[in-house]
Amino acid sequence: MNILGIETSCDETATAIVENGRWIRSSIIASSLKEHARYGGIIPEIASRRHLELINLVTQQALKKANLPLKSIGGIAVTAYPGLVGSLLVGVSFGRALSFALKKPLAEVNHIHAHLYSNFLSKRKETVRDASKKMRPGLPALGLVVSGGHTSLFLMKNFTTFTPLGQTRDDAAGEAFDKVARLLDLGFPGGPVIDRLARNGKNQDIRFPSADLRNTNDFSFSGLKTSVLYHLRSYKNRKAIPIEKIAYAFQKSVVTSLVNKCLAVCHRKNLNTLLVGGGVAANSSLRKRLIQVCQKNKIDVYFPALTYCMDNAAMVAGLGYHLLKKGGSH
Ligand code: KG4
Ligand code: ZN
Repeated sequence: MNILGIETSCDETATAIVENGRWIRSSIIASSLKEHARYGGIIPEIASRRHLELINLVTQQALKKANLPLKSIGGIAVTAYPGLVGSLLVGVSFGRALSFALKKPLAEVNHIHAHLYSNFLSKRKETVRDASKKMRPGLPALGLVVSGGHTSLFLMKNFTTFTPLGQTRDDAAGEAFDKVARLLDLGFPGGPVIDRLARNGKNQDIRFPSADLRNTNDFSFSGLKTSVLYHLRSYKNRKAIPIEKIAYAFQKSVVTSLVNKCLAVCHRKNLNTLLVGGGVAANSSLRKRLIQVCQKNKIDVYFPALTYCMDNAAMVAGLGYHLLKKGGSH
């Protein structure tokens, strides 16, 4: 069954067609990010207006790319929460209207759960050989969602059961990247640029603390952001700031917190599969460290392809397929 996915929770107006919850037949992402960049963050009103202008167009593009007529769609899946209310409203209204007009079922999908589902998507049609090779992650698994708005841990028992285990008590990991990039005048969003600069900044001189909320499954990143702020105040001349070294030390601290917590929770819950999702899952240092540490500890770790770490509608269509199969939405 082909599911049309719709994602409008933030600045991306995205649509996708996914077959049987697995094969991405098309994925279209239009972003209004450039229009927000000069404000240093997403402006909800701009985002929702752009969604309204683009939603019909990107839906037609997804159908065209998948070479499918609208009537061949078996169901619709739309991100219903969490996200910017005005932005979600555009996608949900569009999805509900399509569902009503086509007389096809609608699944309302949780955006954070969908990020974890990205690990089950495939860019090509699965062959019998692929299926026998068990290319998909095994379940149950620990799921880490690290995005601009969320840093959360879930126990994913099956495709429709996600039990929250922990979350950030203050800033999300991506939010910390964005705020520190702002302190360093690196523009928005901060994650990709800090990731790039940190590659040339390896050093032992600058160290920032990694919050370790022992005996909890929670994270905290706001203290780290404040340490970077105080550290920057120690330079009398802004030109003397070693941006690459600071980017390295900051990123190391975030990665250490995330890796240590995932490992501790995997041990505590006796889980040997880890799924990572969300924009920060694209971070090269996080990917490298988790692969090293998980290999040592016999944990299978999975990341989506880089494009599917960011907001997209394929993850929504994929998860929506399982929700519809189960006979409802969540
Ligand atoms: O999942 P996403 O596209 O949107 C939300 O649902 O929030 O994540 C966006 C976040 C931003 O905070 C961005 O700075 C961060 O992901 N990000 C990264 C990288 N690429 C994107 N953070 C660290 N390293 C990256 N390479
Ligand atoms: Zn997201």
